[in-house]
Amino acid sequence: MKINTAEFIISNSDVKKCPTEPIPEYAFIGRSNVGKSSLINMLTNNKSLAKTSSRPGKTQLINHFKINSNWFLVDLPGYGYAKVSKSTKAIFQKFITEYFEKREQLVSAFVLVDIRHEAQKIDLEFITYLGESGIPFGIIFTKVDKISKGSIQKHTAAYTKALHANGWEEVPPFFITSSESEFGKDEVLNYIDQINQD
Ligand code: GTP
Ligand code: MG
Repeated sequence: MKINTAEFIISNSDVKKCPTEPIPEYAFIGRSNVGKSSLINMLTNNKSLAKTSSRPGKTQLINHFKINSNWFLVDLPGYGYAKVSKSTKAIFQKFITEYFEKREQLVSAFVLVDIRHEAQKIDLEFITYLGESGIPFGIIFTKVDKISKGSIQKHTAAYTKALHANGWEEVPPFFITSSESEFGKDEVLNYIDQINQD
């Protein structure tokens, strides 16, 4: 799929104020700093569409971006960032949970994980939460430019093993990406396009 237009629509912390158009929506979620906002910019060929930062905790709201005038990409705040205060963390958690519970347009979530790291408890817990809530999801490994080509398989195999150990008999669709090198761009976009066509 080719992205012709990508426009910022609205930021907010209240799922009730999200756009009401009944068009398919895909949301990026994962730990702070994993590269959610960067991936949105890479996929949409626009380095300044979503705000990014080398410091975790940059995205603090639900951000809707309308793609090709007929579907939404959603950038969410990260979870698991130790340095935000407990009360901020609780507020984030509340509206993220509300988003996943109430957003009827959501077709699939994508859980982003840094390919360099072993499976983290917080991600596995979030994946379990999505499974229990019946929310379809894929896994996007980020920052593949930071490891050698030869070790990609080792990292994804270790992750698959961790998913199996957490009770996932079948591994969800997964993608290997880099927002630096644009690795995996077509795979992610074609996957979304395929769902949009069905
Ligand atoms: P929060 O909004 O804080 O939750 O973070 P985020 O998940 O949106 O991360 P963001 O896109 O802001 O990126 C965090 C840092 O990682 C930035 O310094 C990015 O430049 C860097 N980064 C993101 N993706 C990649 C990647 O694929 N490769 C490399 N090398 N760096 C990346
Ligand atoms: Mg962000």
